[in-house]
Amino acid sequence: MDEEICDLTKTAASHLQTAAFYEIKDMPRGTAMHLLFADDPAIVLHSLNLQLRNNLRWEVSRTAAGHWLAVIHRAEDVPPVDVLDALKRDHKRLDAMFSQIIHLTDRNHLCDAQALMRAFSAALERHLAVEHDILAKAIRTPSNATGLDPTAAMISEHKEILAQSAMIAASYEEDDATANSISPLLAILAGYLSKHEQREELSLFPIWTGAIRHAPEAARTDLFARTMAILNAD
Ligand SMILES: [Fe+2]
Ligand SMILES: [Fe+2]
Repeated sequence: MDEEICDLTKTAASHLQTAAFYEIKDMPRGTAMHLLFADDPAIVLHSLNLQLRNNLRWEVSRTAAGHWLAVIHRAEDVPPVDVLDALKRDHKRLDAMFSQIIHLTDRNHLCDAQALMRAFSAALERHLAVEHDILAKAIRTPSNATGLDPTAAMISEHKEILAQSAMIAASYEEDDATANSISPLLAILAGYLSKHEQREELSLFPIWTGAIRHAPEAARTDLFARTMAILNAD
């Protein structure tokens, strides 16, 4: 079934994105969807990817009949392509871990939540190590129109995130710890973390992407290898 091709060559251009969306939206993990287009689908696929929160990866080739065949995968089924792709995925991983901590705490499974909070703190430290010790040190960022340096803003937000995480970790240690005492702290950090990640992806990551694109290939390869080694270290 994975090899079945969905033919969209007769679909009107105005309906292509919607048609592709309905083909792809429930695509199971580990599978690929083959879509056939009459014209170059680059714009349709990029719009669709925005709609699906950057969860797609694809390759496009020309068929003998002159059509365009797109083989589409879920992003998590293919390895990260570069440092920024790896960091964005790590944001999602951290968010998912933190949601699970909230879920466990709300259900009063405090021991499990505490164990996951330890794993989250370790994963967070690795993520910040890439952003601080590698990227922020290697790439200078100019101040924006309001005079704010996005790297300085990132570092100050990281301090706040680490302080809040430490406070939450300490809350689980207390003898009288309850879901009611910890949940409000989790809610505050969840909101702060989400805004921080959005700000980073909108302001800093494009600057880093541009700088890395202009680096020599050997430096890019080395940077990617060091990033993956840190993010995947357990
Ligand atoms: Fe960050
Ligand atoms: Fe980040």
